[in-house]
Amino acid sequence: MKVVLLGPPGAGKGTQAARIAEYLDVPSVASGDLFRDHQKRDTELGRLARSYMQRGVLVPDEVTISMVTEWIETEAGTGGFLLDGFPRTLGQAEALDGALSNTDGLDRVLYIRVSNDELVRRLTGRLVCRGCGATFHRVSNPPPAHGACEDCGGELYEREDDRPEAVGKRLEVYFSETAPLIDYYREAGILREVDGEQSIDEVGRVLIGEIGSGS
Ligand code: AP5
Ligand code: MG
Repeated sequence: MKVVLLGPPGAGKGTQAARIAEYLDVPSVASGDLFRDHQKRDTELGRLARSYMQRGVLVPDEVTISMVTEWIETEAGTGGFLLDGFPRTLGQAEALDGALSNTDGLDRVLYIRVSNDELVRRLTGRLVCRGCGATFHRVSNPPPAHGACEDCGGELYEREDDRPEAVGKRLEVYFSETAPLIDYYREAGILREVDGEQSIDEVGRVLIGEIGSGS
């Protein structure tokens, strides 16, 4: 299956991606993680992406589209995949449709809905593992008492774009650039909307249920 996770910053896309990909037995990728990996390796693309990400604005479509479609070609091939955080503009959605035009297209877009106050609360308390990318939250999903990643023992850090100024900008950009995709995919008949303000396990259970729900 070819599935997209859609939702505002802090909705829980990354938190749910691993379990959904495991359930579907498909490779998954977060466009934000691809950019962060380029930054870590200090590539030209990483330096370019950082100049946008730091400010909480989107990286331009042309670079983002080629990076993700390349990932689909090399990592997913003709099998299924799970995309977290791509597409995020109408231009990216149309490019993805184009890249999948010789397949039967996307099967599902899972939209995780969360209120603004809760998003701010989640982003400002988030901790991310440098080793495996697992996410934790200081209050709602605390890491083990020793302060390292529960999965791989890696060091936990706060993302640069989780500073309050960047969080505000990311939410604004989400509403102007990405929220229109909700209607785009609803009209295509593949959108499934899930209440993201339940426990992490419950959100995961409902998302998996929606993947198989009637077309
Ligand atoms: P990206 O890394 O994708 O960030 P984002 O969309 O802003 O989303 P987040 O990763 O912040 O949130 P999430 O939904 O994954 O939430 P999480 O699971 O971590 O993108 C970063 C930047 O890269 C963008 O701003 C842009 O510049 C660039 N970029 C990326 N893709 C792009 C694209 N396609 N085009 C252009 N530019 C692009 O959860 C958040 C917190 O909440 C965690 O602490 C977690 O533990 C907690 N939590 C999760 N679920 C629950 C729950 N049910 N209850 C309580 N707490 C919960
Ligand atoms: Mg994420």
